[in-house]
Amino acid sequence: MTSVRSIATESAIPEPIIVPPFAVISGAQVQRALQGREKQIVELVEAAYRLHGAGDSVNPPSYFLRFPDRPSARIIALPASIGGQVRVDGLKWISSFPENVTAGIPRASAVLILNDHDTGYPFACLESSIISATRTAASAASAADRLSRGRRRPTRVGFFGAGLIARYIHTFLDATGWSFDEIGVHDLSADNAAGFRGYLERSGTAGRITVHDGAEQLIRSSDLVVFATVAGQPHVRDLSWFEHDPLVLHVSLRDLAPEILLASANIVDDIEHCLKAGTSAHLAEQLAGNRDFVHGTLDDVMAGRVTVPADRPLVFSPFGLGVLDLAVGKYVYDEVARSGELHVVDGFFHELSRYG
Ligand SMILES: NC(=O)c1ccc[n+]([C@@H]2O[C@H](COP(=O)([O-])OP(=O)(O)OC[C@H]3O[C@@H](n4cnc5c(N)ncnc54)[C@H](O)[C@@H]3O)[C@@H](O)[C@H]2O)c1
Repeated sequence: MTSVRSIATESAIPEPIIVPPFAVISGAQVQRALQGREKQIVELVEAAYRLHGAGDSVNPPSYFLRFPDRPSARIIALPASIGGQVRVDGLKWISSFPENVTAGIPRASAVLILNDHDTGYPFACLESSIISATRTAASAASAADRLSRGRRRPTRVGFFGAGLIARYIHTFLDATGWSFDEIGVHDLSADNAAGFRGYLERSGTAGRITVHDGAEQLIRSSDLVVFATVAGQPHVRDLSWFEHDPLVLHVSLRDLAPEILLASANIVDDIEHCLKAGTSAHLAEQLAGNRDFVHGTLDDVMAGRVTVPADRPLVFSPFGLGVLDLAVGKYVYDEVARSGELHVVDGFFHELSRYG
């Protein structure tokens, strides 16, 4: 570590302040740190929701960088700060280029920068598509558990959109004690549906797997519906498909017509965040002229402040909070550091003496 300066306040003994070493953590290291620890990660994500709910976080709106020449693409910046034991600041910078998938590479790519609480210095850059998928799946698994406690526990799951996020969510459901009699899959691409089916079969999951050609069949035959498409506009509009009151994890946020949300119970991760950026919840607010259709947050449910009605569909819309990326990212950093495998870039910060 390089000692930069020490500061003295009038009353306190001077504390040495140091520039932390800067490390780069690869996707392989991230994966090793997270694999097989799904239950622990769900607990960690729930703890981050609690800290956020208690106000021990800063999580400003995400910034969406879009391009006139590439209208389907975007890069999102999620700056955040989390307190508690995690106590770290940072930024997730995540690209979504949906056309990548046809070229055989994942849609999303990302890095996460962690900043030191005391000096503000960045101390790590982590591959973050895995962290992002992991925290999203952990949040979905938590919601599936917490939100099904007051209603019949689902036995038939349906994956609407069968990409990487759907795979991670299935892995997390499986690892946190869910088993299903029926697993439905629906995707606009027959190849992607078949790829996901192949993954399910290889995973050794129990339950009969059915690929549905139609959206209606998938929804009607599932009591837990996971939306993980890349739809930019609502394309599911028929409320009668939901008359069996399923629990819906609306992870892709823009699939459902606002009328469906207005007829459902709604839980979000953060109300301010979720009612933005053209999400179905945002459209529902515009249609209703108020936010009364939102029952509360997942943290409200965990704390018992909100009880969710069981007599209608229940939709969980997680906008995706930067504080979750920080919590999972810091966990990965600590694990890699503990194993002695941090790749430190010596001398990354070079101009450290004010007057040379
Ligand atoms: N809320 C969050 O915190 C959060 C976090 C990460 C990702 N996401 C969202 O999850 C979604 C899925 O991400 P991914 O990495 O799995 O993407 P992906 O491109 O790997 O998979 C998306 C799949 O959806 C299918 N699809 C697209 N439109 C469809 C439609 N109308 N009906 C049926 N299938 C359709 C595609 O063919 C593809 O197989 C994205 O929208 C992403 O923004 C949300």
